[in-house]
Amino acid sequence: MAVLLGGLSAEREVSLSSGRACAAALREHGGYKVVEVDAGRDLCAVLADLSPDAVLNCLHGRWGEDGCVQGLLEWMGIPYSHSGVLSSALAMDKQRSKDVYRRVGLPVVDSFIRCKAEVMAHHVMAPPYVVKPNNEGSSVGVYLVNEENNGPPQLDDAMPEHVMVETYAPGRELTTTVMGDRALTVTDIITTGWYDYDAKYKAGGSTHVVPADIPSDIFDLCLDYALRAHAALGCRGISRTDFRWDEARGADGLILLETNTQPGMTATSLSPEQAQSCGISFPELCAWMVEDASC
Ligand code: DAL
Ligand code: MG
Repeated sequence: MAVLLGGLSAEREVSLSSGRACAAALREHGGYKVVEVDAGRDLCAVLADLSPDAVLNCLHGRWGEDGCVQGLLEWMGIPYSHSGVLSSALAMDKQRSKDVYRRVGLPVVDSFIRCKAEVMAHHVMAPPYVVKPNNEGSSVGVYLVNEENNGPPQLDDAMPEHVMVETYAPGRELTTTVMGDRALTVTDIITTGWYDYDAKYKAGGSTHVVPADIPSDIFDLCLDYALRAHAALGCRGISRTDFRWDEARGADGLILLETNTQPGMTATSLSPEQAQSCGISFPELCAWMVEDASC
């Protein structure tokens, strides 16, 4: 089997970590014959040459998580893990996925797409608000605009021409992994500041409390919302849905931020940690993803 890793997106480094960890677990504990494939522009030729029985997709971000590589694998008739073309594309488009969530009654904050020049010229909504690319992960390019008098955000050249502007949802960071038809558990992610790229990937950047020490009604709502989001988008295999919870507002303070169809898969990432807390070891999780592959 082939493990796809690396790729072309801003989350390349995260994907290299995810893919190497999964490949090692499958080799050492699963007895699989594993080839690691760094997904470059020649991916089609490399896969045609290898002709694997299945692909474990460990790519994150654009081209690997947004339906592109899924379409290629469908075209080639190679079974692959995680979500299919449409679900991947929908989940990766933060604005359009919110339309889907709203339709099934899941709570999200207001947002809209604006061109970069306008966002930099004046406050397009009253602070606090968040500006982010509509289709990136791992908090790449996320700006939190706090105070009226700080002025509008000066966006990096690397930001796309159109960006999403979203009402800031205060509160605790919670997350839930869905594995097939089962929502595993809830993790409370504790950070000293903003849960940005460094907090996500640098040692000591955040602390994960799993299972989260939160009231049981909020815990159960996270499980329910994650399952409903996974189903509404038509996801397959593993997904992870992220939330903010404003404790002061009780159940009304739980907001769904997004569903990640290719969640981080290093041994210490959130989803493997959640699986572990439910008695599923990392190699077992990796083997489950391979066996779940289809096209
Ligand atoms: N986008 C990163 C990999 C995650 O959601 O875990
Ligand atoms: Mg994400």
